[in-house]
Amino acid sequence: GATLLATLSLASTSALALTVGFSQIGSESGWRAAETTLTKQQAEQRGIDLKFADAQQKQENQIKALRSFIAQGVDAILVAPVVATGWDAVLKEAKEAEIPVVLLDRMVDSDKDLYLTAVGSDLVHEGKVAGDWLVTEVNGKPCNVVELQGTTGSSPAIDRKNGFEQALAGHDNLKIIRSQTGDFTRTKGKEVMESFLKAEDGGKNICALYAHNDDMAVGAIQAIKEAGLQPGKDILVVSIDAVPDIFLALAAGEANATVELTPNMAGPAYDALDAFFKDGTLPPKFIQTESKLYTQADDPKKVYEEKKGLGY
Ligand code: AHR
Repeated sequence: GATLLATLSLASTSALALTVGFSQIGSESGWRAAETTLTKQQAEQRGIDLKFADAQQKQENQIKALRSFIAQGVDAILVAPVVATGWDAVLKEAKEAEIPVVLLDRMVDSDKDLYLTAVGSDLVHEGKVAGDWLVTEVNGKPCNVVELQGTTGSSPAIDRKNGFEQALAGHDNLKIIRSQTGDFTRTKGKEVMESFLKAEDGGKNICALYAHNDDMAVGAIQAIKEAGLQPGKDILVVSIDAVPDIFLALAAGEANATVELTPNMAGPAYDALDAFFKDGTLPPKFIQTESKLYTQADDPKKVYEEKKGLGY
């Protein structure tokens, strides 16, 4: 169990010496790496003993990690679930062991009673913000869109697709002509974009790219350039995350818009755990982070510099 620290010198950090297990998905994107950095940094600042497990994109590794955390008797568990389904059994085991679980950035399909809280953005809203931007940008002109989806079965891939489609509904000038997973990575984003370009007259038939994260967009931008087209002009590029590299692309006119997702999911998660262990305070089931749109008009060079210090 959590023990109270007596020293006043730690008053600015967490009052509880918690041991927390963190099952991270992997390091598929710049955003993910920053989330890992911040989760570790924040733990250190708060005097939390963080046990870190990298699942290398595999749910089975995450389930194993959770079982090992339960066996070790950690005070709490953080998990960024790679996909949305298949969590019931292990979450029940954590509940039976009275270990609170906090979901980070991705959601699960399980009963809400099986976790303490979830910290994340409104993923449907993010997709909608991206779609609304494109609707306004093309202003009624015909526009064929290609979509790079995130990891199949993950909540951001499902929700960002839905939100984007909601924004496009009723705007018949915009059509999603191709949609495929790029697994949230640069390499796959580039590969899949190359196949889209080939299939669509060298890209001449494509007016815009919607990527479920910036890393796939950055890979795709490279593919567009190699195909002899100008990303950001010949093919509009809108994506999600707001990682530093997309601001370089925005500054160079090669990307057009991104929706920000904060990599600091751990801060609110640790705050919720702190309150819970102090006096049993139950957090809301969903602690929502902000989603902000950035375009080329938002001084991307300056934002790039600011972002670099924030876990990136
Ligand atoms: O779950 C959040 C998503 O996962 C981020 O948008 C993406 O970059 C990461 O891989």
